[in-house]
Amino acid sequence: MKLWKGRFSKAATSSADEFNASIEFDQRLYKEDITGSIAHARMLGKQGIITLEESQLIIKALQEILEDIEAGKIEFTIESEDIHMNIETILTERIGATGKKLHTARSRNDQVAVDIRLYLKKETASIDKLIKELMDALEQLAEKHVDTVMPGYTHLQRAQPVTLAYHLLAYYQMFSRDRERFADCLKRIDRLPLGSGALAGTTYNTDRDFLAEELGFASVLPNGMDAVADRDFAIEFINCCAVTMMHLSRFCEELILWSSVEFSFVEIDDSFSTGSSIMPQKKNPDMAELIRGKTGRVYGDLMSLLTICKGLPLAYNKDLQEDKIPVFDAADTLKASVGIFTEMILTMKVKEDKMEHAAKYGYMNATDAADYLVSKGIPFRDCHEIIGRIVLYCINKGIAIEEMTMEEFKSFSPEFDNDIYEKISIRSCISAKKSNGSTSFESVKAQLEEIKSNK
Ligand code: ARG
Repeated sequence: MKLWKGRFSKAATSSADEFNASIEFDQRLYKEDITGSIAHARMLGKQGIITLEESQLIIKALQEILEDIEAGKIEFTIESEDIHMNIETILTERIGATGKKLHTARSRNDQVAVDIRLYLKKETASIDKLIKELMDALEQLAEKHVDTVMPGYTHLQRAQPVTLAYHLLAYYQMFSRDRERFADCLKRIDRLPLGSGALAGTTYNTDRDFLAEELGFASVLPNGMDAVADRDFAIEFINCCAVTMMHLSRFCEELILWSSVEFSFVEIDDSFSTGSSIMPQKKNPDMAELIRGKTGRVYGDLMSLLTICKGLPLAYNKDLQEDKIPVFDAADTLKASVGIFTEMILTMKVKEDKMEHAAKYGYMNATDAADYLVSKGIPFRDCHEIIGRIVLYCINKGIAIEEMTMEEFKSFSPEFDNDIYEKISIRSCISAKKSNGSTSFESVKAQLEEIKSNK
């Protein structure tokens, strides 16, 4: 049913109806819409804008509609355009004229704004829980791998040895900032737009503070035009999703590399891999690749909403109906990705021996060999050059630095002594790091302690 039929002499064509409708995607806001409407009806009754009996009748009917929607008993129609008008139409069908009073002192503009904010509050909470579970998984894995040595990379070239725990805890920190970012964004989501009317406020004696309390909002938006017109909080939310996806995607990229025969650092469990329809030997890291791919989609969602909003004159414009598509997509994609990623890393096999082997070859102790000479009083730049020549020599000979004889060492610098062998062993290279937050076994244990004490 069209709720504005008074002004019109002609119905919309069915193609225009279809084009205009958002029910296909905004029906998932049914709960938020009914929650908002119940609070609104309660406020109207309390303020004497409608009678208490009318308010109670509306609330009871809305609760029944909610139950019926959840029981799958209700079919929404394109003719009623969106979730707001579908519910209002059903309400009026059920309780007659009283149902038509619900929309007093309200517009769909503040209604939809409150629905999205309620939805995003809920989504932010479930995303926070999922990221927390991922961080717990990382902590658990890091605990297991405080002694697992692997190459640390820059430019994807072997750089310096690190522990797997150190590498995992790097991601732990990134995800912990992602949680912070969502928590901060929540502060701006958690403000009530309802009661702003279409744009200018209403002529009724409404109580917006009551609405905020009923709906659990931390505060009331102070300007009604802003309240119905802006979607910055939703843009921010998608941005938080995009940054978290970016972190996941980098990790996925590593897992894809690490599970290749060339690296062989990990084996992703069969239950999170797929085969090839033609090549029998293949085991593909599809989940990781999909998360990497979906990251692009979520970036697209962010660009999409930014672009939808950029040219809109105040206040509400129908363009804003399109906000829900990227918002839902970003939230759904992030939740699914974090969930699958956590399961995937908890089930993957780490090949410690392969990691350690890779850490031994690649001259990753060259910096430590240079530091050794520094400790003998040679300026660092000279040490850098001497070790550079040693590395070239070893590459040509196909050996590791520690495989040189003492004689060979001495031929590069008389400062070398027998203790060089111990000083440049992979584990010594790791233990020797002294700075705060380093890869040393001690520091990583301290980082884990810190994580535990912050819980
Ligand atoms: N379905 C609309 C949306 O999602 C609801 C608000 C419509 N308001 C209006 N004045 N046409 O934005």
